[in-house]
Amino acid sequence: MTAHGPIARGDAAIFSDATRATFAAAYPDRPVTLAHGLVGHDLLTLDALAVLAERMPASSVEYNLGKLPLGVRPEDTPTNGLTLGETIRTIESNGSWAVLKNVERDPAYAALLDAALAELEAIVRAATGPMLHREAFIFLTSPGSVTPFHMDPEHNILLQIMGSKVMTVFPARDETLVPAQKSEEFHDGGHRNLVWQDGFKSRGTPFPMTPGDAVHVPVKAPHFVENGPAVSVSLSVTWRSERSVAEGELHSFNALLRKRKLPIGQVSQQPERQGIRRLAYRIMRKLGA
Ligand SMILES: [Fe+2]
Repeated sequence: MTAHGPIARGDAAIFSDATRATFAAAYPDRPVTLAHGLVGHDLLTLDALAVLAERMPASSVEYNLGKLPLGVRPEDTPTNGLTLGETIRTIESNGSWAVLKNVERDPAYAALLDAALAELEAIVRAATGPMLHREAFIFLTSPGSVTPFHMDPEHNILLQIMGSKVMTVFPARDETLVPAQKSEEFHDGGHRNLVWQDGFKSRGTPFPMTPGDAVHVPVKAPHFVENGPAVSVSLSVTWRSERSVAEGELHSFNALLRKRKLPIGQVSQQPERQGIRRLAYRIMRKLGA
């Protein structure tokens, strides 16, 4: 066993030493290209994923038509009229997008997530404390699909397994891209999709990805994804930290305050240190606010 966990270094490693050094320099605030060793893994073929999807609860799967404009209101997202198994097995030609959520509930995929995160754990712990609430997601997309402009609440590394895509990542905590009120609604259970304006495009950094590439996406850094001319499969490995949890709590607190027409508080660059506001939020929530 090495200092980084039970995975042997060398050929078996998912993230090489050089990749881990790149990640350490960028985490937690900067998006960056990484490399990974999971291309061709038995658990990540289309057949393995169709079998997995069919034994997953319906609530853990989302799928719809894939050729969408960059900005889509959640209620306007069109369905594709197929079952999930059909969607995955014919993804080459059906113009769809599917996500398998929380695949770590399946023991084999849990082991894969643990193996990947074990190699990064020491770096994460040094920067943002213990890795909390680990989750994995698998995205399957037909050629040419677009995942609209949105943000996610987790620390995330997206690993490209099959096909190509370009992920365009925007700065986190920029209120011209994501107004404070949208952030509050998001942490209050609102949809992840964001309002797109064409003027935003130059603010983003495109990260082209082919199999073996990965991208680190900081917490709530807005992004959209344009898939290439082949079927794409990507694995997202995510975790939370005290910082990401604190940031969510402070925006939820502001949502409560705004509803009551009370003054909103600033969410700082180090929200984990805003203990008094977090305590106030927890008390208000306990009181049934
Ligand atoms: Fe995302």
